[in-house]
Amino acid sequence: MNKILLGYEPANVPPGTLERVEDLAPHLEILVTEDQSEIEAALGDIEIAARRFPHDLIVSAPRLRWVQQWGAGADWLLRYPEARDRDFILTNASGVHAIPITEHILAFMLSFARQLHHAVRAQQRQEWDRPQRAGFSSQEPIFELCDRTLLLIGVGAIGQRTAQAASALGMHVLGIRRNPERRVPGVEAMHGPEQLQSVLPEADFVVLTVPLTPETRGMIGEPELRAMKPEAYLLNIGRGGTIQEEFLVRALQEGWIAGAGLDVFESEPLPSYSPLWQMNNVIITPHYAGLTPRYEQRALGIFFDNLARYVAGEPLTNVVDKDLVY
Ligand SMILES: NC(=O)c1ccc[n+]([C@@H]2O[C@H](COP(=O)([O-])OP(=O)(O)OC[C@H]3O[C@@H](n4cnc5c(N)ncnc54)[C@H](OP(=O)(O)O)[C@@H]3O)[C@@H](O)[C@H]2O)c1
Repeated sequence: MNKILLGYEPANVPPGTLERVEDLAPHLEILVTEDQSEIEAALGDIEIAARRFPHDLIVSAPRLRWVQQWGAGADWLLRYPEARDRDFILTNASGVHAIPITEHILAFMLSFARQLHHAVRAQQRQEWDRPQRAGFSSQEPIFELCDRTLLLIGVGAIGQRTAQAASALGMHVLGIRRNPERRVPGVEAMHGPEQLQSVLPEADFVVLTVPLTPETRGMIGEPELRAMKPEAYLLNIGRGGTIQEEFLVRALQEGWIAGAGLDVFESEPLPSYSPLWQMNNVIITPHYAGLTPRYEQRALGIFFDNLARYVAGEPLTNVVDKDLVY
């Protein structure tokens, strides 16, 4: 009997999950484990793998037809080209993070606008350090998000939600996506990737919500950072590899841009020697923008929907194009 692997510690399977899988796919035997040796022992029979599945085992699972991963980014395919070439369907959990990451992006933007990053540091020193009014200070001035321009690089599940929230705050939202003909509510103008350099000078916030792919790797380097306004902020919640970090460090040190809010980095955890740790105009969060207490519930929702489709022989949702890596 072929197996469906649920990559959970057995004690951590959310209530009702096994019953739901049994109902949807009674012809498959359920295996619940995160343990590599148990997975290896069952490898010959695994047809579907959901949640955690070791990437290096994909090539040696002869009956594997479908992998439902629990994250959005499929950039691991770049490190496992042999898995990329193998014939199986890969689906992701894109959509699960739209709300928490939009709120994370808003938190970064509001922190810079209201200078919370300075206030928290002053509080730790017990200093009553009021920001100066705009135009009176050599420090960054307090400002409003309303009427500022946000450039979203990547307008997928996350970017679309961010566009709506930012436009509700009165921001002007511009977008860059691979298929610019796909319009989205809240985005005033949509551009293709080749227009990046010409759009960057318009933005007060540049937000990276793109996946890491061969096309996006290092897409923000010296020319792009120099094209940004000196008062503009760069936020990255996608993947660290889309920014050439050595140039970001220079841009922040030399005032090419005003600051950065970073959740992802070229190397994670961010090494202790990185100059980014010491910069007053940088907010660092350790790759948790996508966290939410509703994560499991939402990811399971995508999985159950796809399992029903799979059993019915219908096309799955959230399919990753393994050639494009997203
Ligand atoms: N920090 C975290 O905790 C966290 C959590 C979840 C996700 N992420 C990252 O966020 C990424 C985006 O997630 P999502 O769910 O929004 O993905 P998504 O729905 O697949 O959206 C990706 C967007 O990027 C665009 N894009 C792809 N290649 C591009 C290129 N070369 N130039 C410009 N735009 C390009 C796509 O354009 P089209 O729409 O035209 O195809 C799409 O709009 C994920 O891949 C993952 O790396 C991070």
